[in-house]
Amino acid sequence: MKALVVYSGGLDTTVCIPALREIGFDAISTVTVDVGQPQADIASAARRASLLGADHHLIDAKQEFASEYCSAAIAFNADYFGYPLSTAIARPLIAKKAAQAALSHGPFDAIVHGCTGKGNDQFRIEFGLRLHAPGIPIRALIREKNWTRSEEIAYAEKVGAPIEQSKTKIWSIDENLWGRSIEGGQLEDPNYEPPEEIFQWTKSPQNAPDQPLECTIHFDSGMPVALDDKKMNPLEIITFANRIAGENGIGRIDIMEDRMIGLKVRENYECPGAVLLISAHRALESLVTAAHERRFKAVVDAEWADLVYRGLWGDPLFEDLSAFCASIQKRVTGSVKMKLYKGSLTVLGRTSPNALYSEADASFDDNTFDQSAMTGMVQTHGMASLLYARLKQKK
Ligand code: ARG
Repeated sequence: MKALVVYSGGLDTTVCIPALREIGFDAISTVTVDVGQPQADIASAARRASLLGADHHLIDAKQEFASEYCSAAIAFNADYFGYPLSTAIARPLIAKKAAQAALSHGPFDAIVHGCTGKGNDQFRIEFGLRLHAPGIPIRALIREKNWTRSEEIAYAEKVGAPIEQSKTKIWSIDENLWGRSIEGGQLEDPNYEPPEEIFQWTKSPQNAPDQPLECTIHFDSGMPVALDDKKMNPLEIITFANRIAGENGIGRIDIMEDRMIGLKVRENYECPGAVLLISAHRALESLVTAAHERRFKAVVDAEWADLVYRGLWGDPLFEDLSAFCASIQKRVTGSVKMKLYKGSLTVLGRTSPNALYSEADASFDDNTFDQSAMTGMVQTHGMASLLYARLKQKK
């Protein structure tokens, strides 16, 4: 029997390989999808796969991740209770690429993933696999065996599976271009202060440079396309944004998160580039959209975030929201000047050819319309509130 393991090279997916052999899978392939995780992890996945006798495939999906998934996160101002959805937006792409690998290198009797039964990723990955490789059975061995982390380590030691670093690593980390998530160990206690060692992409505000950094981000139709007049593609701009924002202590996030299954968990993230680019995008959107449009867009953003958190990339509502968002983004063109300083982010200015703003009309010093024409409009303002106040007085 043949199995394809969606393989990160970490503890959970590594122990799946010998465990699959025990239940009769004799030909095992692995697929790692590169969405910007550390090169060392990618290399170690290949090494471990070959030590375990698996036929390994590596798919570089960084450009696609940046230009289709991270760019959507910018357009929708991605925010789930303060989390820019960094892990969540990568799962549908990982599942799609793994499904395509299953179809081109198969036939396989199973596609296997390493998600536990407690998290969100099992929903996201399995939905994506069923969507793109329908009919191939899916196995989740950690969940099937109800294994704890220490049971996984004990099993790996018993069968001699290569997990050396995983034993000493206390944190469970998921990393891609859009951010890093850090969980586990003492961080599970919501009252435990995150130690400095969990952060890899961001300086602490105290250690950030004493001089502020100012930069101008240029957007074209909702997408950042240049930074300080240097044109870049989405992958380059996100990589660069991560570097400058991280260097200035921006993007540390510590939240209580409500998982899909109803569990409340403590989560830490580092998403410097996401925080910088989304803040600039929001600033520009607020210049080019009408008040009622802004209110509605906020509802659309929240719905999108909820669908994406649940892994439903491709849901009919997802498509409808995307069409609405694309229509607005056509006007989100212009530039935003930001100041990055010791963990704080300030919008210094914004400009757009599509601004719904007229300085002359808004100004105290210009008379572009006859102010006296307002009298009637003001007189009838608050009619219902007034009626209500009178009613209360009568009682
Ligand atoms: N809580 C986040 C989410 O569900 C991050 C999950 C990180 N996954 C991990 N295997 N460490 O999107």
